[in-house]
Amino acid sequence: MDYGLEQKKYYIKTYGCQMNFFDSEVLAGHLENMGYLPAERKEEADVFIVNTCAVRKKAEEKVLSKLGRLRVLKEKNPGMIIAVCGCMIQQKGVARRIKDRFHFINLICGTHALGRFPQLLEKALHSAEPVLDLDTENSREHLPVKREDTLKAWVPISQGCNNYCTYCIVPYVRGPEKSRPPESIIQEIKKLAKNGYKEVTLLGQNVNSYGHDLYGDFGFAELLEEVDKIEGLLRIRFMTSHPKDISEKLIKVIANSDKICEHIHLPLQAGSNKVLKLMNRGYTKEHYLELVDKIKNTIPGCSLTTDIITGFPGEEDNVFEETLQALERIRFDAAFIFVYSPRQGTDAAEMANQVDAAIKKRRVMVINELQNRISLEKNQELLNKELEILVEGISKTDPHVYTGRTRTNKIVHFTTTKKCLGELLKIKIVEAKSWTLFGKLSQ
Ligand code: SAH
Ligand code: SF4
Ligand code: F3S
Repeated sequence: MDYGLEQKKYYIKTYGCQMNFFDSEVLAGHLENMGYLPAERKEEADVFIVNTCAVRKKAEEKVLSKLGRLRVLKEKNPGMIIAVCGCMIQQKGVARRIKDRFHFINLICGTHALGRFPQLLEKALHSAEPVLDLDTENSREHLPVKREDTLKAWVPISQGCNNYCTYCIVPYVRGPEKSRPPESIIQEIKKLAKNGYKEVTLLGQNVNSYGHDLYGDFGFAELLEEVDKIEGLLRIRFMTSHPKDISEKLIKVIANSDKICEHIHLPLQAGSNKVLKLMNRGYTKEHYLELVDKIKNTIPGCSLTTDIITGFPGEEDNVFEETLQALERIRFDAAFIFVYSPRQGTDAAEMANQVDAAIKKRRVMVINELQNRISLEKNQELLNKELEILVEGISKTDPHVYTGRTRTNKIVHFTTTKKCLGELLKIKIVEAKSWTLFGKLSQ
């Protein structure tokens, strides 16, 4: 019999980048403070949140098709509260369009409303009408966090972005860059280390410009030096680095530290100066290549990964070739290749010479093929080497199969009967694929 004592449950579906996954941990923190527990299955949820991403059309299409499917869930369970949050909602007109198209949604709020979520949910629980919050007031200090992982933690160090790359929606949906005070970041990481966390990833759209809006002389390199001193942590990672703002000091700090991992995600976006200029990236191909040499010479064994956009307006065949040449020259450990997606309100969406969809599709295949070969060759160089792995996960189907990462951020699978979650182990690499390595526990 139901005495009405049953625990209320929540389910969150997240799209997009690490920053959005972190925001979902804040939403979970709010919900747990309100007495909710995580639902194992989405059908059990009393509150279902969709945390959206607007970076490419594909991301938005996924969200819209998810919302379509939620209609069925809501019909089966009319008491379920459905909330749609995140970057998509910050775009002009989108909240109202979603409200009109999906009548069953109870709450619509953007990334700026994260701090107000409990009040908004209360309102939605007692309202027959959908609740909308489009306020741009945004405070992110002192928010609760319910972390998914017990070993690794995301730590945002700044919000928003001032760079206005011409293809990108992020500055419009996340607002201007705002750095968190260093004291608050350090305090949070000390607490994480005390609670047994082994790894932190410092997050920002452009971590290299951290602090410019604060004291001026305390930037990202200085912040990393302080985080490196925190006892108990084993590894420090960060993303994303912008090539125009990486300082020599930062490269030296990474080289001289014990805990900062030898991996830099450094989006190149395109290998042609013409396109880089049209993208408003603020650097040339030559500057980028110089930076790569500096990093490789100063931080031995540092891995480099990147993002590439193909099919940007004005990318003719010979221009595209320049990106292929850059990939051959730099030999990234991995690259994420995206097809250019015009975003409403950005400058590039209005540019002439948009590239034909079929050409974009072909180019993405060509780049992926090239990069997969390079990634495989780079991984094969690691065969028979002993690498330090932080053991991060156990296979769902076999409790003896573990997954870890090298300091250079490569995924390694290995088998052992020893319980080793959270440990640093020496693993000998025995097989290499483009995206993963397989290893054996060293004796
Ligand atoms: N702030 C980070 C990343 C932001 S979005 C940076 O500046 O590197 C992550 C990646 O998505 C970008 O690096 C870019 O490669 C890609 N991206 C952003 N907008 C895009 C668009 N309109 N079409 C295709 N890819 C895009
Ligand atoms: Fe977008 Fe450029 Fe800012 Fe990255 S740096 S979030 S690509 S505008
Ligand atoms: Fe991230 Fe997508 Fe927003 S990439 S910042 S969730 S638009």
